[in-house]
Amino acid sequence: MNNESPQIIVRRSGPLSGNVQVPGAKNSVLKLMAATLLAEGEYVLTNVPAIADVVTMSDLLTALGISTKWLGPHELSLTNSGNISTEAPFENVDRIRASINVLGPLLTHYGQALINWPGGDDFGGRPIDLHIGGLEKMGATIEQNLLNIRASADQLNGAEIELSFASVGATENILTAAIYAKGTTVIDNAAREPEIGDLCNMLVAMGAEIEGIGSSRLVVHGKQKGSLHSVRHSVINDRVQAATYIAAVAIAGGDVQIRGAKSEHMEMVIDKYSQMGVLISPSRDGLRVTSPGRLNAIDFATLPYPGIATDYKPLLVAMNSVSNGVGIVTENLFPGRFRYIEELCKLGADIRIDGHHAVVKGVEYLIGTSVIAPDIRAGAALVVAGLAAHGETVISEIHHIDRGYDDLVGRLSGLGADVTRV
Ligand code: EPU
Repeated sequence: MNNESPQIIVRRSGPLSGNVQVPGAKNSVLKLMAATLLAEGEYVLTNVPAIADVVTMSDLLTALGISTKWLGPHELSLTNSGNISTEAPFENVDRIRASINVLGPLLTHYGQALINWPGGDDFGGRPIDLHIGGLEKMGATIEQNLLNIRASADQLNGAEIELSFASVGATENILTAAIYAKGTTVIDNAAREPEIGDLCNMLVAMGAEIEGIGSSRLVVHGKQKGSLHSVRHSVINDRVQAATYIAAVAIAGGDVQIRGAKSEHMEMVIDKYSQMGVLISPSRDGLRVTSPGRLNAIDFATLPYPGIATDYKPLLVAMNSVSNGVGIVTENLFPGRFRYIEELCKLGADIRIDGHHAVVKGVEYLIGTSVIAPDIRAGAALVVAGLAAHGETVISEIHHIDRGYDDLVGRLSGLGADVTRV
């Protein structure tokens, strides 16, 4: 391990108090940025989270010909002057999964795209066959090899596409490709995540015609190529970051206002938190969270929205690990998304993995030691777990956390948690 790399040090903390503002959503802003490839003009995105993935997406778009400029700490200007390259460089694409979101806009507007296989968190296999199948149904020719994907189509045509799984990325790529397809495209079993609603709303403001926003059947009426226009748009707040601060209060105790948390985007996870004993009520501009004492372990299974998101799972597992009783966790999206459990066990958690299930037996307390953040959400969950651990929890490889969390340490410290970055 490189001793020069930053680490996060957490000591047992609580009760937490005060208020914390939820930043804009990573999984929305990256897709909104990619959508600027669809039409010329200057876009201004507000409520942009200060996270590394925004910088990576910005670098990718710059390489494609979009110029980006920060107008303020959370306000990003992106200008599409029409001089766009359709070849996405490997070094940008390799770093984030959302890089695949340039495929739909490039193909539908410029007739071609050459892109390497996208990177992102390593949860085992993350195929893109549903993206490709949908685009092929719209008339694209797609060649794949071990290195990259080459797509071409002079003119895409509307099609009826039924996804065999409600994939977030496939829904977004087919949706953006349909914007300039000839005729109407129907996406059945579309993913319904709030971030897709945010993308649809920005596309409509740009001049697109989309029906069924927020539902599992999206109907897109294609427009004349290049007829959309640039807009100013505010990114929706990040439900996973909101859930992280709820988990922190749940595990450390306290009474905190989570400003900007949208309960309508988090119904099922709020229900699960409540079953564990966390008290969550609406407040003037978000949610008030109080945690009266030791939590109760719960069973849960991850599912596409509106189910319990796989991104919440590490937080709920960390909470279960210090709760009363035993919780059975089932991962239905990414079977390999359990790498952080080994790290939680180093802290003294009692967790057994069986296939895509984890059996979490609550222990009275954890004991701090050195752990590694294996991915974005798991890293944040280890920070949260550290709040309930005696001694010092030292988390390395925190560049993963920086990819998706806007000042996690500053926000938790603001609530009175003993968390520092060194
Ligand atoms: N899948 C396929 N074929 C495809 C696409 C997906 O089989 O063509 C499978 C995947 O292998 C997986 C499931 O479908 O088993 C779900 O994948 P999905 O396409 O919905 O996920 P994604 O677009 O790759 C986004 C988020 C993830 C989040 C998932 C699920 C972004 C950039 N990433 O990934 O977020 O976990 O949806 O909600 O939006 C994170 O933010 O930390 C993160 C990992």
